[in-house]
Amino acid sequence: MSQQQFPSTGSALAGKVALITGASRGIGLAIAERFVDEGAQVILVSRKQDQLDEVAAQLRSRGATAHPIAAHMGKLDDVRELVDTLDTRGLAVDVLVNNAGISPPHEGSLTDTTEALWDKVMDVNLKGPFFLTAAIGKRMAARGGGTVVNISTTSALMAQPEIGTYCISKAGLNTMTRCFARELGPQGVRVNAISCGVIKTAMGDHTLNDPGRYADMMKINPLKRPGYPEEVASTALFLATGASSYSTGLILQVDGGVLA
Ligand SMILES: NC(=O)c1ccc[n+]([C@@H]2O[C@H](COP(=O)([O-])OP(=O)(O)OC[C@H]3O[C@@H](n4cnc5c(N)ncnc54)[C@H](OP(=O)(O)O)[C@@H]3O)[C@@H](O)[C@H]2O)c1
Repeated sequence: MSQQQFPSTGSALAGKVALITGASRGIGLAIAERFVDEGAQVILVSRKQDQLDEVAAQLRSRGATAHPIAAHMGKLDDVRELVDTLDTRGLAVDVLVNNAGISPPHEGSLTDTTEALWDKVMDVNLKGPFFLTAAIGKRMAARGGGTVVNISTTSALMAQPEIGTYCISKAGLNTMTRCFARELGPQGVRVNAISCGVIKTAMGDHTLNDPGRYADMMKINPLKRPGYPEEVASTALFLATGASSYSTGLILQVDGGVLA
């Protein structure tokens, strides 16, 4: 099932440049597709250049301008190189979507978490998005505006020790959203986040393909189904555009109502 709840005008992002991390599949790909359908030029970022090239080719066949640029969001050298590449190519970002993320399950107890796992999760889910937002947010502010959309999770609010570092990293992303919203708001840059429930992607399938986890999720989900990447994409479009012009520092639930 695929759902598109926010009607398309075909021009909500006309003339805008949007950078989406984790754009090779899942939620990031759906956001890139939705933004292209609304007239945006897109910068596609993930680790694997060949996969990004394929996505870019698909989007170009729909008439889009797409720039596939490989970068590891957990490596600050890659983040800096990405920003340098944008500057060199004259790509001024109007919309930044920090979507790339990982949620590796812990082996054993949370109390036995290794420093390596902690660093890996924090680097990709928090450090990379922080420094990318700092660099691009500064450029947006200098140009008089822009929007940032961070892709977070209900797990930031509902403790799940088996993916505890993920929960903690995304709680940090929520607070990062509010800090940058206050810092950059006076200069016309709005910073918001989407708090996703379980969404049908490679990452979401970890829960959806496990009958026990799926049953647990359904017990607390009033809509009694998982979400779809297109439903996150339509919310990202709302937060990226003037449709949400009086909102910043918002953590918007797209979770089937699990926190209701
Ligand atoms: N699916 C859910 O149920 C769910 C729920 C709540 C929140 N979220 C959040 O939604 C976001 C997207 O998740 P998804 O479900 O679409 O996951 P996904 O299907 O696993 O896609 C993840 C994307 O991020 C990229 N990526 C992973 N590590 C990266 C890195 N180090 N540097 C750059 N790119 C990287 C991947 O490409 P490469 O592997 O090629 O780099 C891929 O494009 C994540 O932040 C996740 O936490 C998802």
